[in-house]
Amino acid sequence: MEKSAKLNKKTMFTGTVLSNAAVSKSYYEMTIELDEAGSVAFSNVIPGQFAEFDLRSAAVGPRESIPEELRDASQRQVLLRRPFSFFDSRKVLNTNPEIVRLGILYCVLGPATLRMSALSKGDQISMIGPLGNGFSVPDGTKHALLVGGGIGTPPLIHLAEHLTYNHTDIKTVAFAGARSVENAPFTMQIDNLVGATVAEFARYEIETHIATDDGSIGHKGVITECVEKWLGENSFDAGMTMVYACGPEGMLAAIANIAEKNNIVCQVSMERTMACGTGLCQSCAITKKTEGGEGEYKLCCKDGPVFDSREIVFGERQ
Ligand SMILES: Cc1cc2nc3c(=O)[nH]c(=O)nc-3n(C[C@H](O)[C@H](O)[C@H](O)COP(=O)(O)OP(=O)(O)OC[C@H]3O[C@@H](n4cnc5c(N)ncnc54)[C@H](O)[C@@H]3O)c2cc1C
Ligand code: FES
Repeated sequence: MEKSAKLNKKTMFTGTVLSNAAVSKSYYEMTIELDEAGSVAFSNVIPGQFAEFDLRSAAVGPRESIPEELRDASQRQVLLRRPFSFFDSRKVLNTNPEIVRLGILYCVLGPATLRMSALSKGDQISMIGPLGNGFSVPDGTKHALLVGGGIGTPPLIHLAEHLTYNHTDIKTVAFAGARSVENAPFTMQIDNLVGATVAEFARYEIETHIATDDGSIGHKGVITECVEKWLGENSFDAGMTMVYACGPEGMLAAIANIAEKNNIVCQVSMERTMACGTGLCQSCAITKKTEGGEGEYKLCCKDGPVFDSREIVFGERQ
């Protein structure tokens, strides 16, 4: 991405649902085929970029299909678009004009994602994208450490794919944290030779380290402990290593700290409420450190969502 491959112009377009199914208790996987305008805009989408989905006209599923704790939320209207990144983007072979399909992994936790989970094959969604900057791969990078927490993992799976096909000289290691083996947006399994792996990274032959809160698979604890252990046990050139992280803000703050202690540059994908995704509504402010110490406001949707962790004031999100 060679500071970031040329960004395609963002556009409003329609996506058609090809498939949409639960992959665990709270997570769903959806494949969307883009129309011609969307396919042009997304032909070179960068991992970490996102799109804003309009789910206003989508209906919720039957009451009995809605988890009890989300029944009140299901009654709320969805007025604003919602941001989602991708775990996968691919061009459909032999199409003219070229057609792009996007893979989305999402957690059902409120009115918009409940409506998304009720979409079926053939349903259409209005989308705006690609938005934001995405992760960058500086020249000379030799080691990439991908660190994902829960629903922050999808853009790192996308980055894993990008590194595998476009940066064959970079050695990539993935770290994935989740609450439990049953409830994660990725597939954890035991490989007799290497132990616990995540299938979505293993498919690119990327070494994976797993942590779960309940210890149901991998390390019992937080994923940042696995990163610290790996850094302590392996040799790497700090100046040629990059940490890429996406997940809860507490995890990002911890990984930023670990990277700084090891003199490694760390790119974090930050999350804010994003009502427009295009820099108009100012709902996604983030404070960037300045030399004078007073800080300056940046927009997470437009200046980010990916930032150098050394620039970020963590802990602002309510
Ligand atoms: C750049 C970007 C990329 C994103 N990519 C993805 C993605 O690939 N997959 C995905 O599932 N989500 C992703 N999100 C988060 C997603 O936008 C929200 O989960 C979604 O907007 C929730 O809408 P809702 O109406 O269902 O729930 P809301 O009513 O908006 O939220 C319901 C409850 O969940 C809490 N909540 C909202 N978002 C989160 C979160 N991310 N983690 C934990 N609690 C939360 C809220 O505080 C609230 O209490 C992304 C967000 C950003 C900014
Ligand atoms: S989401 Fe509107 S300015 Fe960032």
